[in-house]
Amino acid sequence: MKFQKIRGTRDLLPEEARRWLQAESVIREVMAKYGCAEIRTPIFEETELFARSIGQLTDIVSKEMYTFQDRGEKSLTLRPELTAPVVRAFIENNLGELLPLNKLYYIGQVFRQENPQAGRFRQFHQFGVEILGSPVPAADAETIALAVDIYQRFGIAEFTVEINSVGDQRCREPYKTALRDYLRPRLAKLCATCRGRFESNPLRILDCKVESCRAETVGAPRFIDHLCQACADHFAEVRRLLELAGIAYVVNHRLVRGLDYYTRTAFEIISQQLGAQDALCGGGRYDLLCEELGGKPTPAVGFAAGMERLMIVLEKSGWSVESHAPRVFFVALGLEAQRWAFARARQLRRRGWRVEVDLLGRGVKAQLREANRQQAVAAVIIGDNEIAQQVAQVKNLRDSTQTEVPMAELEDNLSRFFA
Ligand code: HAM
Repeated sequence: MKFQKIRGTRDLLPEEARRWLQAESVIREVMAKYGCAEIRTPIFEETELFARSIGQLTDIVSKEMYTFQDRGEKSLTLRPELTAPVVRAFIENNLGELLPLNKLYYIGQVFRQENPQAGRFRQFHQFGVEILGSPVPAADAETIALAVDIYQRFGIAEFTVEINSVGDQRCREPYKTALRDYLRPRLAKLCATCRGRFESNPLRILDCKVESCRAETVGAPRFIDHLCQACADHFAEVRRLLELAGIAYVVNHRLVRGLDYYTRTAFEIISQQLGAQDALCGGGRYDLLCEELGGKPTPAVGFAAGMERLMIVLEKSGWSVESHAPRVFFVALGLEAQRWAFARARQLRRRGWRVEVDLLGRGVKAQLREANRQQAVAAVIIGDNEIAQQVAQVKNLRDSTQTEVPMAELEDNLSRFFA
């Protein structure tokens, strides 16, 4: 029996894992510049947490969650996103009492049972940030700026920031009414999914990808024309701040997001380098979620980004990472030489140097070939003769020059390769 990975999951083999590690450290570095602190929450939570926050009628909750019963018959779900878990942790640990403003970031696995395709997986990774406690437009703008800065820090220039406002509890219902009035005479021409959403969630009809639905909604009323004064002012200020920061954006009137907790600002960053799944990240404000989950009313805004999608774009842009090749390879022949190499290599590693030793009992030629394959800079060659005379042959693998070095001076001699 041969096992295979589950559809929609991936193995990160060493070379790719190394790229991920480097990318994660870049993300952490930018997060730190914005004063964000890391939070790590469990992989699974009570199912109800997600149903309540993301929304019963959303695709995620209605058909994509990995839900199971534990032995205590509790319904648990592998997290399909991290906003709800972070808010749950924020409430449970009274973080709002400890600090008036919490900026929390995360990098971790999420699970959604979607149809796998390019850039879409069933286990994937999100990095993101949640800013809890601030009602002001600067928090929205800072969230967007942070996302933009991460992509720019990677040298990614080709992307579009799309923003919209989805209003609040005052203006949402009047807007939905206006939208339904517009859609009602067109209902027959909409797809079955959209017809199903007409009563429950007409906003989602705006972002339907079916061509005929899009054609029918071209002239639909725009949310930004139906915002209450407070929401309109808020949106105008977010735009002003983005302009001030030199962040180009477009207002996309169809942008409504697939999760129910948003209020006011919604945004996505779209990459032209990705195929159909072109959203690098998405987010927005969610001022009502904290209270909805049993906490004190706490205004909040955040975003989450697909790590796999970032890596796809980085692969295309030729982003390169620091080499982990060993600097020195010990080529040892004979038991005494091998013992010596084992001990000496460990010493040098403890000094912070990357050193490799042969572990396959290969001959000298094969060991040298391996040193070159691993792109080592130098080889230290030792056999019984060298042990007897207390010397080592140091070969510069770049120019093939070889010198005999007394063992006592080996470290000094090698240090030139570590400069
Ligand atoms: P989301 O739009 O569902 O938002 O996901 C955010 C990002 O995760 C997407 O833009 C995409 O890059 C990536 N993503 C989503 N699904 C998949 C998948 N199946 N495979 C690979 N990548 C995927 C949220 O999750 C919200 N929690 C964002 C947020 C944070 N809003 C406020 N704070």
